[in-house]
Formats: sequence, C-alpha cells, structure tokens
Amino acid sequence: MIDLDDFSIVVLDLADAESLNSMLLRNTERFQRYFPKTLEQNLNLEMTKEYILKKKSMFEASEAYTMGIKNKTSNSIIGLVILKNINREIADAEVAYCLDTDYGGKGLMTKSVNKICAFAKEKRNLKSLFILAHKTNMPSVRVAEKTGFVWSETEFKSYTPVNETEPIDMEKFVKVL
Ligand SMILES: CC(C)(COP(=O)(O)OP(=O)(O)OC[C@H]1O[C@@H](n2cnc3c(N)ncnc32)[C@H](O)[C@@H]1OP(=O)(O)O)[C@@H](O)C(=O)NCCC(=O)NCCS
Repeated sequence: MIDLDDFSIVVLDLADAESLNSMLLRNTERFQRYFPKTLEQNLNLEMTKEYILKKKSMFEASEAYTMGIKNKTSNSIIGLVILKNINREIADAEVAYCLDTDYGGKGLMTKSVNKICAFAKEKRNLKSLFILAHKTNMPSVRVAEKTGFVWSETEFKSYTPVNETEPIDMEKFVKVL
C-alpha cells in the first residue's frame, strides 16, 4: 500500500470488485478511447473478479503492476495506475492511468504517478519509464509533464482506438528514474 493522504494506492483485491466494476462502467465513455481492453475485461461483476485475480497473479509474477487508487473514506476504487510492458533487459516500463471523472483536475493523478515512479525505482529496480499519450489528451500530457517526463518522440500511426479506422500518432514521454 502506498499512502496518498486521503487516498492510497493498493494492489487490487477481490473485495474491491464491486467498486472497481461500477467505477469503470460509470466512466466507460471517458475511458473508451485509451482503455478499451480494460473496459472489455470488466463488463460485469464476475468479469471484474476474474480481472482482479489475473492482475493479482501478474503482480506477484512481476509481469505487470496494476494498482487501484482507493478513497480511504469510502473504501472504494476511484482509479487505476499501471506499470506494464515491462522490459527487464533495460529495466524500463510503461505507465498508464485512469481516474474517475468525479476526482479529476485536483492533482490526484500527478501525485499518484510521482509515487509510482518512486515505487518503480525503489521497489522494482526499474531505471526508466515512459508514457504514451495523444497530443489532444491534455490532462494526460500535463500529468506526464508535471511528473518529470519529457517528450522523446512521436510514434506515428501506432495506435488505433476502438470504433475508429485510422491509426493515430502517440507522443512518447520518457523519464530516467
Ligand atoms: C489523465 C487523467 C488520469 C488526469 O487525472 P487528473 O487527476 O485529473 O490529473 P491532474 O489533476 O493531476 O492533472 C491534470 C492536468 O491536466 C490539466 N487539464 C485537465 N483537464 C484539461 C483539459 N481539458 N485541457 C487542458 N488541460 C487540462 C489540469 O489543469 C492539470 O494541469 P495543471 O495542473 O497544469 O493545471 C484523467 O483525465 C483521466 O482519467 N482521463 C481518462 C483516461 C486517460 O486518458 N488516461 C491516460 C491515457 S494516455
């Protein structure tokens, strides 16, 4: 558990299934473009329980670290912060994140990503991280900039959002830990 004052960053547990499922369903439109796979795996409560068990075993196997942002008062999951695409040879990984719209614009994801960078370095021996964001996704670009990630390159036509036919360019931001 990583402390974030009124919130905490936790390894997801089956007890979180209901709040995680309802948070994702409530934010389907907000998360659709950049989190289609996560939404696809959480269409109902049973699927979310499977998702949590899979992510927990991937965490224990150091394959990927999917963590929940939890509101300490309501004990509910209000967001996800993820270390994935881990390349052990170069000790590098991708950071991805999403937050319930009710908690947006208050600096919470900036705080969370800063904590995840420290976790990646101190607890998981990672040496660098990257974030992929579309140039129109200002909140995400700002989170990357505010947490010390610097723009490194444009990955041309590298991502095709669901329900869209044309691949889009993604901006890569990197941080040496
Ligand atoms: C990206 C996301 C996690 C940001 O979370 P957050 O807690 O609101 O982020 P923060 O409050 O820490 O920082 C957001 C920054 O974006 C800015 N911002 C927010 N909405 C904005 C907008 N529509 N246009 C421009 N800037 C915006 C905020 O002002 C803030 O920057 P500032 O501190 O310089 O003012 C959240 O918007 C989200 O879940 N989006 C949907 C999923 C997603 O796109 N994930 C990223 C995939 S790459």
